[in-house]
Amino acid sequence: MYDRYGGPEVLSLAEVPVPSPGPKQVLVQVHATSVNLSDWETLRGTPLYSRIGGLRAPGRPVLGSDIAGRVEAVGSEVTLFAPGEEVYGDNLTLKGGFAEYAVAPESALARKPASLSFAEASTLPQAGAIALQGTAGITAGMSVLINGAGGGSGAFAIQLAKSAGAHVTGVDNAAKLAFMRTLGADEVIDYRAEDFTRTGPYDRVLDLVAHRSIFAYRRSVARGGRYRCVGGTTRALLRMTTVGVVAGMVTGRGLGVLAVKEGPAHFTPLAELCVAGRIAIHTDRSFTLDETAAALAHVGAGRALGKVVVEIR
Ligand SMILES: NC(=O)c1ccc[n+]([C@@H]2O[C@H](COP(=O)([O-])OP(=O)(O)OC[C@H]3O[C@@H](n4cnc5c(N)ncnc54)[C@H](OP(=O)(O)O)[C@@H]3O)[C@@H](O)[C@H]2O)c1
Repeated sequence: MYDRYGGPEVLSLAEVPVPSPGPKQVLVQVHATSVNLSDWETLRGTPLYSRIGGLRAPGRPVLGSDIAGRVEAVGSEVTLFAPGEEVYGDNLTLKGGFAEYAVAPESALARKPASLSFAEASTLPQAGAIALQGTAGITAGMSVLINGAGGGSGAFAIQLAKSAGAHVTGVDNAAKLAFMRTLGADEVIDYRAEDFTRTGPYDRVLDLVAHRSIFAYRRSVARGGRYRCVGGTTRALLRMTTVGVVAGMVTGRGLGVLAVKEGPAHFTPLAELCVAGRIAIHTDRSFTLDETAAALAHVGAGRALGKVVVEIR
C-alpha cells in the first residue's frame, strides 16, 4: 500500500479487509499480477497523467492492474463468471492487484486459457493490448521501428510485427540488444549510442517511451508512413496530440498518440497466439508479494527483459 507518491520506499505491506464486489464486480483471489511501466509511473506520480486518479495523493492505495486468479465471489448482476473460475484481465481503473484479493469490473476480465499459468496470463492484458493495437495494420515488407522494444509491451510487439512479415528494428538500452534479437528483431539500436530518428525513415514507428520533438519524430517516418506513441513524457504526448497531428498531415505522414483500448477483446487475441505457440511470453523475473517494491523498482530501472511478475499464491 502507499498513501503518497514516491519511490519504492513509500510502499508497505499491510493487512486490510478483503474487498467486497459491487453488483457488476468480481472478487478475484489473486494468484499473479504482472508489473507494467504504468504501475511504476502511478507509484511515482510522474509523468503527470499518471495522477489522473489523484492529483496530490494516490487515488488507489494498492497498485497492480494486470491480475490473474480465481473468482472468489461475484456481484448480484454478474452474468459472465462464477466462483471457482480462472480469470485474468487489466484492472486499470480499480487496480489493487498487488494483494491477495482484488475487486475488478466483470467487463475487464476474461476466462484464463487452461494451458497458460496464472503468471503467464498476468503478463498479457495491458502489454498485449498495447502491442496488438500498436502493430495493427503492419504488413509484409514494411520497415517497422519499435522504441522501448525490450520491455513488456515491446517484447510482444517485436514478435507481432515479425510474424506480419515486417523488417523490424528494436530500440532500447545496450543490455537489451541481444534479447531483442532473440525476439526476432532484424536490427537493434542502443538509444544511448544512436539516434533512431536519423537511421530511418521507417514505414511504421511505435514509440513506447516518447520524449523527443515533433520534428525528430517526423524525420523518423517515411512519407505515407505512420508514427504512434503510447507512452512517454507528458510534454511529448501533448505536443504530439496537437502540433504533431497537424505537422504530420501537412507533410504526408500520420503522427499521433495511440489511445489504447482496454478490455478482453483487446488482449485475448494475443493469448490465443500464445496458446497456439506462435508468440512467446518472456518473463524476466518473478517476485513474491512482500517483494513488490523490488519488482516495481526492477521495471522502473529498465532492467527487465520482457515482463516481471509478482506471484501471490
Ligand atoms: N496510451 C495508453 O492508453 C497507455 C495505456 C497503458 C500504458 N501506456 C504506456 O505504454 C508504455 C508501455 O511500456 P511497457 O510496460 O512496455 O514498459 P517497460 O516494460 O518498462 O519497457 C519500456 C522500455 O523502454 C526503455 N526506454 C526507456 N527510455 C528509453 C528511450 N529514451 N529510448 C528507448 N528506450 C527507452 C526502457 O529501458 P531503460 O529505462 O533502461 O532505458 C524499457 O526497456 C508506458 O509508457 C505506459 O505508460 C499507455
